Amino acid sequence: MARLNVQASTATTIRIDGREVLAFGGCNYLGLAHHPAVTGAMADAAGVLGLSTTASRETTGNTVVHDALEEELAGFIGEEGAILLADGYTANIAVCQALARDHGVALIDARAHKSLRSAASAAGIQVFEYEHLNAESAAWLAGQFADQGVLMLTDGVFAADGALAPVPELLSVLPQRRATLVVDDCHGVCVLGDRGQGTVGHFGVRDARVVVTTTLAKGVGCYGGAVLGVRSLVQRVRDTADVYRRSTPIPTPIAAAARAAVRTVQGDAGLLASLRRNIVLMREGLARLGIATHEEPIPIFTFTFETHQRMEEVHRRLLAEGLYAPYIEYPGGPTPRFFRVTVTAAHTREEIERLLSGFARHMAAVAAST
Ligand SMILES: Cc1ncc(COP(=O)(O)O)c(C=O)c1O
Repeated sequence: MARLNVQASTATTIRIDGREVLAFGGCNYLGLAHHPAVTGAMADAAGVLGLSTTASRETTGNTVVHDALEEELAGFIGEEGAILLADGYTANIAVCQALARDHGVALIDARAHKSLRSAASAAGIQVFEYEHLNAESAAWLAGQFADQGVLMLTDGVFAADGALAPVPELLSVLPQRRATLVVDDCHGVCVLGDRGQGTVGHFGVRDARVVVTTTLAKGVGCYGGAVLGVRSLVQRVRDTADVYRRSTPIPTPIAAAARAAVRTVQGDAGLLASLRRNIVLMREGLARLGIATHEEPIPIFTFTFETHQRMEEVHRRLLAEGLYAPYIEYPGGPTPRFFRVTVTAAHTREEIERLLSGFARHMAAVAAST
C-alpha cells in the first residue's frame, strides 16, 4: 500500500500532489492538531524553554510544564495521577514494566493494539488471548490464572473496527487481588464521556484496579503518551519503569501544546457537540447506502462491500474528485483491507454529505461496470 505524501494539512483537508483534498482519515477527532490555541502555545513555549529538556526528568530534565500537564491530564481523564511517556506505545511498555513483578499473566483482547501484546511479552509476562470484546472468555482465563496475578489488557475504543470495550464486564470478572485492567484509550480520549475524558469516564467506572494509557498524538492533537491511575500506580511507574527513567521527556513546547489542547476541550463544549452531530450524520448516511456500522458515539467507521477490486476503484474515483476516504490495510479490521472513514468536529454537514453522495454515485457506477 502506497504511503500518502502530505504537503500541507488542515483539520479537514490534505494537500497531495499539489491538490487540496477533503479528508476523512486519521484521528484528529476534535481538530486540535490545527487549533490556533494549541499551535500558538507550542510556539510560545519554545521561546521560553527551548525545544528539548536534553535530559531525563529524574536527572536534570524536568520542567513546570511537564508537571502541570500531568496534573491537568489526570484531572481531565478523572484519575488520581498521571505520568508522561514518550508516546502511547511507550506508555504501554511502561505500565507492563512497572507491573511485571506481581502480574505473571496477561489476558489480552484478541484484537488489541499490537503495542499491548509487545509490551507484556517484552516485560516477561505470559500472554493469553481472550475473544474480542468477550468478557466471558476473559473470565474463564482469569479463573485459571488468578493465583499468578492477572493483567487484563484491552483497547477502550478499537481503532480498526470502531468497537467499544466492555469495561464494566471486564472489571466484574477481574480478580480482586493482584489484578489490573489496563485500558489503552488512545481512541477514547477526546471522544467519549460527557467531557471527552474517555472510555472509563463514559462508563462511569471508578476502581483502583483500572489503569488508563493514552497517546497525546490523536484526539489531543499533539505528541506523547501517558499512564493514568491511582497515585501508587503512577509512583510505581516513576520508580520502576526504565522506559520512563532512562528517557528524555516529550519536547517542552509539545507539552505546552497538550496543556492548551486539554484546556480547549474543557473550555469549549461545542467541539464535542459538533463531533457527536457529525458521528450521527455519518452513521445515518452510511446506513442509507446499506452500510451498517455501530451505534456508539465513536467517529471511526470501518466497512467493506463486495470485492476488493470494487472498493479500490471506489476509493480511486473518490480521490479523483477530491475526496479522501482511506482504504487501508491494518490488523484488527473486518478484512485485511477495508475503508476506515473518520469524522472530526471540524467537518461541516455539507462536507459529510459530499462524501456520502460520492460513495453513493461511485458504488453504483462501479457495480454497474463490473
Ligand atoms: C490503540 C493504540 N494504542 C497505542 C498506539 C500507539 O500510540 P503512539 O502513536 O502515541 O505511539 C496507537 C497508535 O497508533 C493506538 O491506536
